[in-house]
Amino acid sequence: TSLQMAKQPVRVLVTGAAGQIGYALVPMIARGVMLGPDQPVILHMLDIAPAAEALNGVKMELVDAAFPLLKGVVATTDVVEACTEVNIAVMVGGFPRKEGMERKDVMSKNVAIYKSQASALEKHAAANCKVLVVANPANTNALILKEFAPSIPEKNISCLTRLDHNRALGQVSERLNVPVSDVKNVIIWGNHSSTQLHGEFITTVQQRGAAIIKARKLSSALSAASSACDHIRDWVLGTPEGTWVSMGVYSDGSYNVPAGLIYSFPVTCRNGEWTIVQGLPIDELSRKKLDLTAEELTEEKELAYSCLS
Ligand code: NAD
Ligand code: LMR
Repeated sequence: TSLQMAKQPVRVLVTGAAGQIGYALVPMIARGVMLGPDQPVILHMLDIAPAAEALNGVKMELVDAAFPLLKGVVATTDVVEACTEVNIAVMVGGFPRKEGMERKDVMSKNVAIYKSQASALEKHAAANCKVLVVANPANTNALILKEFAPSIPEKNISCLTRLDHNRALGQVSERLNVPVSDVKNVIIWGNHSSTQLHGEFITTVQQRGAAIIKARKLSSALSAASSACDHIRDWVLGTPEGTWVSMGVYSDGSYNVPAGLIYSFPVTCRNGEWTIVQGLPIDELSRKKLDLTAEELTEEKELAYSCLS
């Protein structure tokens, strides 16, 4: 019967849920954009005490929107309550950069958050919880989370470079005047930063975050939220045949990228697991860029540890 077929709700944590990405993201999750139109969800929303009232306002709006898939909302400033039994964790909490800053300039404020929330996730999340770090510097925050949550399988910890990937698709579509749905298989290598590489339109994509900040006086939010949904959806439900996407994942040394960094690779996903696409040709320019972004991530890792000590 349809009752027997009904899926159990999936618990999805969004940290920083009272912020601007959170505000765009939680209704997408509640509408099934992230996990599919037949997957009930329970939202866990975490923010810090100064944002508690705003967080409660978001909860009120979620109730008011009467989302059929939304089976419950936990809105809290308690990190243990927020992390308990979650199946998916989207880590947005932290501080965004302002005009004129690089993403690593928010390092000292943000890595400490990822060190402390790593333990809460490790202890209280559901087994096999999948983690997506969005807050900047995203790769390095994800690496710190991984290192301070050693019992979470490293395959389960990722960072968002899908926004850069989608930006590259958008640029190709605009410049060739073709629908974006006809463009596929761009690649973002390495860091979510201005050393990242993809095949073409490098500068525009690298500087797009800064251009949005300049235009909106706030960093990207709807595109970040939408890309976070794309990232989790493809990870959980699989990438379409013949298509790869970019995900920041723990490097195993593929493409001679140093192991032990969270680095963006082209991946395909099946049965809830990502696999790095192997054997793509890397020309000399690309090789230089792949190495440069790896060097930057190694420096960020050292800087992160110096902020934590
Ligand atoms: P925002 O300031 O609007 O919201 C961030 C929220 O996090 C705030 O409500 C804040 O109170 C909360 N917060 C702070 N410390 C916290 C903690 N310890 N625990 C839980 N919540 C905490 O910022 P935003 O525009 O939503 O951006 C959030 C982060 O995402 C920033 O670091 C931004 O740079 C980053 N970002 C990343 C990408 C990407 O592609 N990887 C894209 C856009 C933005
Ligand atoms: C983005 O790429 O839009 C985000 O990382 C925000 C930023 O600081 O650029």
